[in-house]
Amino acid sequence: MEFIAKDNRYDRMQYRRCGNSGINLPLLSFGLWHNFGEVDDFETDREMVRFAFDQGITHFDLANNYGPPPGSAETNFGKILKKDLKPYRDELIISTKAGYLMWPGPYGDNGSRKYLLASLDQSLDRMNLDYVDIFYSHRYDPLTPMEETMGALAQAVRSGKALYAGISNYPPDETMEAARILAEMGTPCLIHQVKFSLFRREAEEQLATVLRKKMIGCIAFSPLAQGLLTDRYLDGIPADSRAGKPHGFLKVDQITPEILEIVQKLDQTARSLGMSLAELALNWVKSHDFITSVLIGVSTKQQLEINLRILNLPNFSPDQIQTINSCLSEST
Ligand SMILES: NC(=O)c1ccc[n+]([C@@H]2O[C@H](COP(=O)([O-])OP(=O)(O)OC[C@H]3O[C@@H](n4cnc5c(N)ncnc54)[C@H](OP(=O)(O)O)[C@@H]3O)[C@@H](O)[C@H]2O)c1
Repeated sequence: MEFIAKDNRYDRMQYRRCGNSGINLPLLSFGLWHNFGEVDDFETDREMVRFAFDQGITHFDLANNYGPPPGSAETNFGKILKKDLKPYRDELIISTKAGYLMWPGPYGDNGSRKYLLASLDQSLDRMNLDYVDIFYSHRYDPLTPMEETMGALAQAVRSGKALYAGISNYPPDETMEAARILAEMGTPCLIHQVKFSLFRREAEEQLATVLRKKMIGCIAFSPLAQGLLTDRYLDGIPADSRAGKPHGFLKVDQITPEILEIVQKLDQTARSLGMSLAELALNWVKSHDFITSVLIGVSTKQQLEINLRILNLPNFSPDQIQTINSCLSEST
């Protein structure tokens, strides 16, 4: 299988500087939370990853528990690396995380040094890598001293098993504290991975202020609200959709008539602007100044093709953002 774009793949993508670091991330990053497990079709996965890389998407985001079963997304990504991307390792940013339940007993969950460092070794084994580019604490653990969790990230970096440290799902005050400790340890916090979409706007408030102040990059996950902010559910629940699958994290009861009413309104707004709802939702995220990269999931190459169209869209102006926001609040 040949790559199509080859050397001009980087002309197709835009890159943004990640916080106060030397790393540029692609405007769109590729997440493997869903659609890359043992239950999914490997050749489809391989085609999507190859296509993404061919379009200049250099950043692939994983976690220890992605699957199902947990771990299988890393195993599958390791196979794709071996088959297709191994010669390009120095052109890739590969991230993984630990923080949610991964194995039984007291040491396979939360924020201990024991869990994070053992998990990182397991992730490297599954992907057959010597190092990941970014290692994240996947969530804030109030029961573990912050020094211990950040110390584990710093040790991962010092040992060479990770190049950068990141945090995910940390509240604003805890983000500030984590950044302070990591900086003291000489391994500054590169990035915060946060849920951010038209439906989840909390990050716009204090967290964005903290990230700007500390010059930490921000990557927005679930920017399409797992597919709700697309045309996926406008005519019911397709069997091959996330909500239609038994293992999907999006549940049918989350797709309420109230949500669908908002989605319909946003879809009409998108059409009036000459774009699809997915494009509107992604462009809304990318238009915020604290966002470094928009971290999408896709189940088909065609979805990725649509999402890549935002590269040709100018950022929404503050007025346009306001119009879109108000259309949302009028409906709620
Ligand atoms: N740090 C964390 O705690 C955390 C949590 C969640 C996610 N993440 C990361 O963020 C990544 C993205 O999350 P996500 O998958 O929830 O993101 P998302 O982009 O909000 O949702 C992805 C889903 O939207 C649908 N979709 C995408 N493009 C579409 C298009 N053009 N038209 C119609 N439908 C489209 C697909 O649904 P169908 O599958 O139904 O086709 C796809 O699986 C994850 O893979 C993971 O890397 C991190």
